[in-house]
Amino acid sequence: MSTPKESDRLAFIGQLAAGLAHEIRTPLSTLQANLQLLQEDFSEAKDDRERRALQRITLLLKETGRLEEILGDFLRFAAGHKLERRPTDLNRVVGEVLDFVGPEAQQKKVRVLKSFGDLPKVPLDANLFKQALINLVMNAMQAMPDGGELIVRTQKWRDFAQVDVIDTGTGMTADVASKCFDVYYSTKKTGTGLGLPTTRRIIHEHDGTLTVTSEVGKGSCFTMRLPGVGEVEEKQGETITL
Ligand SMILES: Nc1ncnc2c1ncn2[C@@H]1O[C@H](COP(=O)(O)OP(=O)(O)OP(=O)(O)O)[C@@H](O)[C@H]1O
Ligand SMILES: [Mg+2]
Repeated sequence: MSTPKESDRLAFIGQLAAGLAHEIRTPLSTLQANLQLLQEDFSEAKDDRERRALQRITLLLKETGRLEEILGDFLRFAAGHKLERRPTDLNRVVGEVLDFVGPEAQQKKVRVLKSFGDLPKVPLDANLFKQALINLVMNAMQAMPDGGELIVRTQKWRDFAQVDVIDTGTGMTADVASKCFDVYYSTKKTGTGLGLPTTRRIIHEHDGTLTVTSEVGKGSCFTMRLPGVGEVEEKQGETITL
């Protein structure tokens, strides 16, 4: 645990870093716009020299696109969210996210199974929560490259609404599971490693918890618990059960 002074300092550094990321974005988009114009200019390359130039421009555009993505991920993670919470039917929001990812799941041969229980209304910023849930669903699908089952289950747990996102994918070793919420931790070639920290942050901002259980070769279960409307803020311990 960090002391209050340390946490102030970390918050300050976070703000500086977010400011820096923001500043970098502006010249980067100028760079990107100009590269796009150059790409158009060279689109009908007449000789080898022009073809090589076009290849380089295309590569540069790809790299600037990647930089833009890294900055976007960082800013989404670092941004202090101003929550707009309204008493919400969580099952409806979860259903909307599953409808949204349905086509991609089908394409990846992932069968989506829903099991919705009765839930208390939750004071929710629906847009932020959707982002959090989509991160979990994307991870689940990425863990099942040859298809599988994605089970999304909701149920009441004490005065909380609980959402489990379960996959039948690769699972995680104890080592990976203990690091998976760390900022910039990723085992994927093109992963940024900000998906889970962002999700956890959003859930914490809702006074909830996000935990995981996982078994190599069997799959993983990510559990979110959000306090219902009118409940006192009661933070649960973060446990990683393996
Ligand atoms: N459902 C899952 N099954 C197996 N491993 C997982 C699962 N979810 C997360 N992980 C592990 O946790 C790591 C961190 O996940 P996280 O979502 O933060 O980053 P990422 O998916 O690698 O990159 P991105 O920033 O694109 O989300 C992953 O690289 C992976 O090793
Ligand atoms: Mg991810």
